[in-house]
Formats: sequence, C-alpha cells, structure tokens
Amino acid sequence: MFITIEGIDGCGKSTQSKRLSEWLEGRTHVKTIRTYEPYSFREFILSSRGISPMSELLLFLADRAEHLKRIILPELNEGHNVICERYNDSTLAYQCGGHGLNLSYVKNIIASCKFPEPDVKILLEINPELAYSRVLERHNSQDKFESEGLSLMKRVSDCYLNLEGYIVIHCSDMKEDEVFAKIKLELEKRL
Ligand code: TYD
Repeated sequence: MFITIEGIDGCGKSTQSKRLSEWLEGRTHVKTIRTYEPYSFREFILSSRGISPMSELLLFLADRAEHLKRIILPELNEGHNVICERYNDSTLAYQCGGHGLNLSYVKNIIASCKFPEPDVKILLEINPELAYSRVLERHNSQDKFESEGLSLMKRVSDCYLNLEGYIVIHCSDMKEDEVFAKIKLELEKRL
C-alpha cells in the first residue's frame, strides 16, 4: 500500500505516521517504510527565501521525482508498504492555496508528471490557530514556510479542504490516541 498523510504544519502528521507504520506492519506482516517530502533537496528547498512560486513548484516536483525514484518506487516494487508525509496535495495546497498559483494549471502539470497515485490519502484537518501555536513552540520553526504565518496556514487549510479523495480526520478537539483510533478504523475498512 502507498499511503500519504497530508495537513498543515503542526497537524500531527509525523506522530500519526509513526504510529500508523508500526501498526500497519504488525497488521499486514509487510515491511512498512516511513518517509516524507521534501526529501531529496530538502535543505536547499527549506532554506530558499524569496524565490518565486513557480520556482518553488518546480523544486517540489523535482524533489518528488527523485524521491519516487530513490525511495518510494523501489520500496513499493519490493512489495513493502510506504507511508509518506506530504505528496502531490501539499503542492496544490501550498503553491496554489498558499502562494497563489492557479489550481487547475498546477493540477495539469502534476498530472503530466505521471507520479503514481496513493492507494489511500489521509488529511489531518485541524484549526489553523491551534496548529500555528504548536509550530511556534517548536525549536526548528524558522524555515521559510512556517515563518510566513497564520494567514498562509488558513489559505492552505482551505485549499486542502477543497481537494478530493481523502479520508478526512478532524483533529482539533481530539487527543493523539483518538486521532489514531480513527485512522485505524478507516484503514481496516480498506485492508
Ligand atoms: P516540514 O518541516 O517538513 O513541515 P511539516 O513537518 O509540517 O511537514 O516542511 C515542509 C514544508 O514544505 C511545509 O511547510 C510545506 C511545504 N511544502 C510545499 O510548500 N509544497 C510541497 O509540495 C511540499 C511537499 C511541501
């Protein structure tokens, strides 16, 4: 299975992806790999400041192409499960919702890249104010995207909610365990 986890910064993707990978490996008896994006050019991308949204888009797509080639596709071809934090919908939510590129234009570009579609997409939906306050508490919160603030998070969040094909988990009022229980329940239906 190829599973992606999406959501704004501070929604709890890493925590849930870790729990999910441990559970899924036990449940399916199939090796389960956790990964994330940006991956291949991560430091370069996260430290780039003042670049145009179009450059950003192309960097994230290049990053994805490499990530697929080096990690995701070899693991899937071995028959392993792959859980990836962020994928195509991050590009739509951030570069379009967040940074103003046209959504159908970017959807077409992504479609022409022919990146494989995930089997399951999970969206962790959370109140942007709550997520933002968590981000500010982190030590490493000074990268380009996080420093752009709450209004960016709100636009990104709205854009995510308009995308399709997700299991949406509304996390704002839930504890970590409750969020995970919901994810598990939804995945059980698909196994
Ligand atoms: P990261 O520190 O990995 O944030 P998080 O832990 O919340 O995933 O930073 C990744 C940042 O890159 C995040 O702010 C979203 C942004 N991003 C895009 O703008 N477009 C993309 O296609 C991807 C994959 C990430």
